[in-house]
Amino acid sequence: MEWAVITTWEMSLKGCGITAEALRHQENLDEAVMKGINDVEDNPEYHSVGFGGGPDREGHVRCDGGFMDGDTLHFGAVGSMEGFRSAVRVAHGLVKGDANNFLVGPGAEKFAAEHGFERRDNLTEESKKSWEEEVEKRKKPLSAYDGHDTVCFLGMQNGRCVAATSTSGLFMKEPGRVGDTPLPGNGFYADSEIGAAAGTGMGEEIMKGALSFAAVLYMKQGYTAQEAADKAVMTLDQSLKKRNGYAQPMSLIVMDKEGNFGVGTNIEFTFCTASSQSGPTLYKAMPSEEGAVITKA
Ligand code: GLY
Repeated sequence: MEWAVITTWEMSLKGCGITAEALRHQENLDEAVMKGINDVEDNPEYHSVGFGGGPDREGHVRCDGGFMDGDTLHFGAVGSMEGFRSAVRVAHGLVKGDANNFLVGPGAEKFAAEHGFERRDNLTEESKKSWEEEVEKRKKPLSAYDGHDTVCFLGMQNGRCVAATSTSGLFMKEPGRVGDTPLPGNGFYADSEIGAAAGTGMGEEIMKGALSFAAVLYMKQGYTAQEAADKAVMTLDQSLKKRNGYAQPMSLIVMDKEGNFGVGTNIEFTFCTASSQSGPTLYKAMPSEEGAVITKA
């Protein structure tokens, strides 16, 4: 395959098409993937990413994002960043260089301002209202899927792999809380000699298994993308259930360096794919004891 892209959740279907169109026209892979993620970040209908994202306990939308270049293994990441349009673009701005690749809070915001990244208050009237309502009734425990779905894109172009992520994180999170999304190896990982992976779900759970790195390592050991995705999620899911009696939601998209896809999940999960051989398509994955059962959605 010349190029391929896999993305998390139905909300990314349009963005998947935007990335596919850019790759069809041989645009730069990084830019193609970020354009697709921007479509999700800019849409106030999606309450887990960018504009209109879920505020933290103090009513601020603080975003996380990551980007990894599978050729160099260089990564960039931002955590708990407020006031900018695109967490993934600022993360991408940090990919170069051998230090200071992961900035959080005021440090990330200073970097973004100094480098001219577009500013935006991501708190919309609707996200402010949902925060105010939640403050009123706030007594229940946090659930990962209270409007909490990370957008992740994996792209491959002529053998080069990248992984990119963006989220506003857990709704009503503690100020300063950072999930798996900007953490290399956890929320995302890319190695062009093997493939790439990215996770969505409860960050605290995903971080217990370094889920994205685990999947890439399984592919290195010879497992297919689908086998690696299932093995990574099911191994962690079972381990957590054995130790704690439960495992919180987690899903993983995986792609090998040839552009073959895989998905692992312990909940119902939608994802999208496109490649030089097939157009943008929405799928549903359901968990089972044998691994994810995937159908067209
Ligand atoms: N998976 C995103 C987060 O937990 O923040």
